[in-house]
Amino acid sequence: MLTNSDVLSLLLTRTPGFSLPQPFYNDPDLYQADLTHIWYRDWLMAGASAEYPKTGSFTTMQVGAAAIIIVRGADGVLRAFHNSCRHRGSRVCAAEKGSVPKLVCPYHQWTYELDGRLLWAREMGPDFNPKENGLRPVHCREVAGLVFVCVAETAPDFEPVAREAARYVGPHDLKNTKVAFQSSIIEKGNWKLVIENNRECYHCAGSHPSLCRTFSDDPYLVGSDDSIGSPVGKAHVDRCEAAGLPSKFVIAPSEQWRFVRIPFIGDAVSYTMDGKAAVSKRLGKVPFDNAGSCLFFHYPNTWNHFLSDQALVFRVLPISPTETQVTTIWLVDKDAQEGVDYDLNRLTEVWLHTNDEDRQIVEENQIGINSPGYVPGPYSPVHESGVLQFVDWYARTLQSRLTGRALMAAE
Ligand code: FES
Ligand SMILES: [Fe+2]
Repeated sequence: MLTNSDVLSLLLTRTPGFSLPQPFYNDPDLYQADLTHIWYRDWLMAGASAEYPKTGSFTTMQVGAAAIIIVRGADGVLRAFHNSCRHRGSRVCAAEKGSVPKLVCPYHQWTYELDGRLLWAREMGPDFNPKENGLRPVHCREVAGLVFVCVAETAPDFEPVAREAARYVGPHDLKNTKVAFQSSIIEKGNWKLVIENNRECYHCAGSHPSLCRTFSDDPYLVGSDDSIGSPVGKAHVDRCEAAGLPSKFVIAPSEQWRFVRIPFIGDAVSYTMDGKAAVSKRLGKVPFDNAGSCLFFHYPNTWNHFLSDQALVFRVLPISPTETQVTTIWLVDKDAQEGVDYDLNRLTEVWLHTNDEDRQIVEENQIGINSPGYVPGPYSPVHESGVLQFVDWYARTLQSRLTGRALMAAE
């Protein structure tokens, strides 16, 4: 069993610029430390507003041991709760998604209003107060058509993310989209390998023939720094900003999240095999087809692409030290009709291929890391600047939270 100081020592033994020591990718105690100090403390991407089109629409998600239910109330407000009944703790809702008039626990039918209040509990005696037995809330924010949750008692400040999401994602008007398709895959790799792989395109040319038709692997465009380091990146930002579309690289002081709008290769306007639009109806107020892709990541669990014709929301959730769920949501204009305005295969094929290619990469990475022959290796400062940035954020965040706890314990 690794203690907090063991985890801290391991963090301090890492060589900056190199991949992490093996336990960070496969040790159960390290995984638990990740859950406790990162996943149970930070804001997490839950999905898209479009998943909750009406009163009673709900989804459930599992973050480590934390079971969560997210549901839209009769007042239109989206709320999240611990998916644990206030009677004897049963999971209230087992389904992944659906629509319900009330939340009814299957064990003894305690019945909750969609806002979490307990409405009915059979014969609990004269001293029982339903008001004290509502579902326990989880922090939930719906911003620019994206849904975030945080299971911490006190959530970190979300306003800076909300403000920038409104500016960068707002023009895509995700509130007026629908879910055209959703996929969920399990990758047999630690969650950090999934994020590391996403944060570089060093592997793209060798692994992603479909994606590379439209997506540039230029590290000056898609790396950790401002995209204006690339001439086409700068021209794209200038053109989009002049048209009123926020596009300039912006990154949190903590480097936990970033927005930037980058161009596709050549004349491409979408992630399709021929680069042409996948959906004939443009999203929201995006002024032209060739608006490129607005990239947004937020650690520890999401990356996103907001295009002129579709939005792609990716959600990463840890399942075990060496298993991670990756969910992808394709959003299109709510009035777009399948078979008329878009072809589902054409819309989804590039990222279905890409996700599967990345799954194989992550799984091979995990197998090699599990080997006693693994030693941390150097990241390319040019092509893997995004990975360096993520790993440094991770190490810094874990270290400060471990140290904070240690200091408090010592006082
Ligand atoms: S545990 Fe939910 S009603 Fe008993
Ligand atoms: Fe990839």
